[in-house]
Amino acid sequence: MIYFDNAATTWPKPEAVYDAVVNTMKNYGANPGRSGHRMALSAARIVYESRELLADFFNAKSPRDIVFTSNATEALNMAIKGVLKPGDHVITSSMEHNSVARPLFALQKIGVEWDVVKCDSRGFLDPEDVKKAIKPHTRLIAMTHASNLTGTILPVEEVGKIARERCILFLVDAAQTAGIIPIDVQRMNIDLLAFPGHKGLYGPQGTGGLYVREGVDITPIKEGGTGSLSEHLEQPRMLPDRLESGTLNTPGIAGLAAGVRFIKQKDIENIRTHEQKLTSKFLEGIKYKKGISLYGPGDPAHMCAVVSLNVMELDSSELAYLLDSKFDIQVRPGLHCSPLAHKTIGTGERGAVRFSFSVFNTEDEVDEALEALDIICSRI
Ligand SMILES: Cc1ncc(COP(=O)(O)O)c(C=O)c1O
Repeated sequence: MIYFDNAATTWPKPEAVYDAVVNTMKNYGANPGRSGHRMALSAARIVYESRELLADFFNAKSPRDIVFTSNATEALNMAIKGVLKPGDHVITSSMEHNSVARPLFALQKIGVEWDVVKCDSRGFLDPEDVKKAIKPHTRLIAMTHASNLTGTILPVEEVGKIARERCILFLVDAAQTAGIIPIDVQRMNIDLLAFPGHKGLYGPQGTGGLYVREGVDITPIKEGGTGSLSEHLEQPRMLPDRLESGTLNTPGIAGLAAGVRFIKQKDIENIRTHEQKLTSKFLEGIKYKKGISLYGPGDPAHMCAVVSLNVMELDSSELAYLLDSKFDIQVRPGLHCSPLAHKTIGTGERGAVRFSFSVFNTEDEVDEALEALDIICSRI
């Protein structure tokens, strides 16, 4: 079986990730941060070390700046709903995922004003257009680092600079780039970084996080037990407790840490080079194939390892079904939870089939997919 659906969730995971999850459940299964006995302390240590690791990975100033969540969507909701109030203005690109677009759509109903800056048909964003969209009451710029539909990398550094100069909060959705493209929150002027654990960081599903720059105040969207300041009914003000109510996913967090260690050991630059090689081979292979419509930049230098296409008039679900059932190749069809992005590239009606690669994919697998596409094209 060939798994090319890594933009949804990476699979397989490094062996150390499976081991960390099982080992934590079996040997350190107590509740971290709740009790003082040895097993609870061991569990708390696992969580703290994972926080340290992630803070270092994204160059955050302190482990306290890392809040664990269950996925990128929860982190994005926390950030968006935690900073925006009625009367605020927010800017996004037109390549956003529904995990950004839907919370904003909902907030519009309570008086948040939302402007979408249009990207071009390959998904590129001009930072000057973001500058032009700024209003006196702009509170937040929220932007994906790379599109989950076209792979297009957006100019995070340039927009971060603009946001910082104007004292506007800058939220980056790193769902497609965390673990894939180096991210330095300080150098890139990122105030809030939402990341999934289960994609490019090679952690288990049910993991993710939000980096919160020290001093950024976020109103929690949930309150509850934190294991700290239990005598007060008011939610603690300090991070990460303020945003981490309820028992954490300790086995998942241990697995996520193992994923990050794997990336550090491999070196993210080597991972990027490998994925660019696969993307380049795939793009070269389909460039001159008759009947294939290719979307996005078409240049691995400007994209993560995500390529979307359609074959003639074939429905995207039908193509994905053929690849799965006849060739044992797993890809994702449809609208990819990103209707704004589909509208931007002109596939709002039919969707597209997405091929997404990970460090575990090989050039031989790409060749097999290209052969499969040849056969499908020749039979239509
Ligand atoms: C760009 C983007 N943002 C947000 C998400 C949501 O991530 P999660 O499934 O971890 O909530 C995804 C998931 O595919 C994504 O691609």
